[in-house]
Amino acid sequence: MSETLRSSKILIVDASKANIDILVSALGKEYKLSVAMDGGAALAQAKQNAPDLILLDVMLPVMDGFEVCEKLKADPTTSAIPVIFLTALGESDSVIHGFHLGAVDYIAKPFRIPELNARIHTHLSLRNAMIELADQNRLLEIRVKERTEELRETRLEVIYRLSRAAEYRDNDTGMHLKRLSHLCRTLAAACGSDEETREIIFNASPMHDIGKIGIPDAVLLKPGKLNEEEWKIMQTHTTIGAEILSGHDSLLIRMGGMIALTHHEKWDGSGYPQGLSEYRIPFVGRVVAICDVFDALTSKRPYKEAWKPALAFEEIWSESGAAFDPKLVDCFLKCRTDMITIIKNFQDPPVQWEQLAATLH
Ligand SMILES: [Fe+2]
Ligand SMILES: [Fe+2]
Repeated sequence: MSETLRSSKILIVDASKANIDILVSALGKEYKLSVAMDGGAALAQAKQNAPDLILLDVMLPVMDGFEVCEKLKADPTTSAIPVIFLTALGESDSVIHGFHLGAVDYIAKPFRIPELNARIHTHLSLRNAMIELADQNRLLEIRVKERTEELRETRLEVIYRLSRAAEYRDNDTGMHLKRLSHLCRTLAAACGSDEETREIIFNASPMHDIGKIGIPDAVLLKPGKLNEEEWKIMQTHTTIGAEILSGHDSLLIRMGGMIALTHHEKWDGSGYPQGLSEYRIPFVGRVVAICDVFDALTSKRPYKEAWKPALAFEEIWSESGAAFDPKLVDCFLKCRTDMITIIKNFQDPPVQWEQLAATLH
């Protein structure tokens, strides 16, 4: 017998001292035994000592063995303990009833010791196997959770990196995209969006300008004002982005495409590329429109200083009902403190050129 089985705890529940003596002498050398002579004591011991198996006589005073079994199975702390009924010969109805109540086996009296030992051994082995399996499942669940979280983080990082590639020529630090994710999620939450929408917008918003990859340098990097033709080319970053993100069923990619296409639409219909107005503009497009402008205003660019948040909030307010959805503007202005915290927390780090050079050797 294995060491694990040898240290198993068995609770014997029998009202007859003679039967208890037989069981103790048969099992005492192999297992750790405890004894109860009525149902109440059996339930108390099962809860306190957590035995690995219970031998339960049917005929007990006050509370019979069936009732004890029912109570054991109803209590989550004792329900998994295997119960073997001890029955008098010929009680076949009792046996069936016992199985219905959740017993795993029965042993008929008078006991035949080798049979008793064999059955106990089988059920203890089964119980050990089940415990091991449950442990393995728990471990597996933890691993799956960790892997899922890792995949989620990697997916987001890939989105940031690819979106950053598109913005690299005119806005190279990538922190704009991180701020935008957080600003959008906060605004979506402030206007009552569910968890799924908030996460989708958090992950999809960095892809809003991915279409800039298709805009020629002469237009994208032109220092002065764009002429009419150049401006038309610039506007195509929305449709190029939607095209890049088209043709896949995943909600994240579809939302990314929708954001790319609609983040320059305006509430009053004066935006581009389609001139959509009000609720014809998808919710995600309206959210990104506000947050993208707010972040652009509060960021330093080669051609302008960073605006103070108060001034940027005023600008957003002044565009309520013109560029932006008035309800979203209200929600945005209600979480001013959170928005300021986000732009402060994700500031562009200075590039560590020496460290960067060291990693190349
Ligand atoms: Fe854009
Ligand atoms: Fe942007």
